[in-house]
Amino acid sequence: MSDDLRDYIRTIPDFPHEGILFRDVTTLFADPRGFRMAVDRLVAPWAGRRIDKVVGLEARGFILGGAVAHQLSCGFVPVRKAGKLPAATLSRKYQLEYGEAEVEIHDDAIAAGETILLVDDLLATGGTAEAGIALIEQLGGVIAGCAFIIDLPELGGRKRLEGLGMTLHTLCA
Ligand code: PRP
Ligand code: ADE
Repeated sequence: MSDDLRDYIRTIPDFPHEGILFRDVTTLFADPRGFRMAVDRLVAPWAGRRIDKVVGLEARGFILGGAVAHQLSCGFVPVRKAGKLPAATLSRKYQLEYGEAEVEIHDDAIAAGETILLVDDLLATGGTAEAGIALIEQLGGVIAGCAFIIDLPELGGRKRLEGLGMTLHTLCA
């Protein structure tokens, strides 16, 4: 049994497009030890600190963010792909490593001044996280940090988010 999270994550070449090495965390999520290690390590820097809400980015950030929010005993807020949330939303378009997308948040999901932890499985270009950050900040949320399992530093996301003044915790590359 390995303590190295990379041993639980598989890489699929050419998904969803040729040339992309897709980091598939479903194998990590499916493994009881791997999933617990990942959630515990994402939570560790925040234990005992005030977090009002975890914001999870669709889709894998929902799975992780829900577990992290439960462990921190705080609320969970989804940032969803456009057209999925039923009530009034704020939205933001962004570029992906492979295409373009738009995300939304309910406009009453965060109260001004609430302390937020942003959670997702993977940081690549940082476009998704930056869109999430913009939505949270538009609602007056104060982002304490951003937590990811995987950082792909060659795609520039870390530098981009640090340039926005974010505190980042990532577990492996
Ligand atoms: C993946 C991943 C992040 C995002 C990172 O999600 O889970 O949310 O890409 O890429 P970026 O840093 O370049 O923005 P994806 O867009 O594949 O959506 P999904 O989780 O709904 O499949
Ligand atoms: N999102 C953006 N790039 C990705 C990658 N290489 N693997 C998994 N998800 C991603």
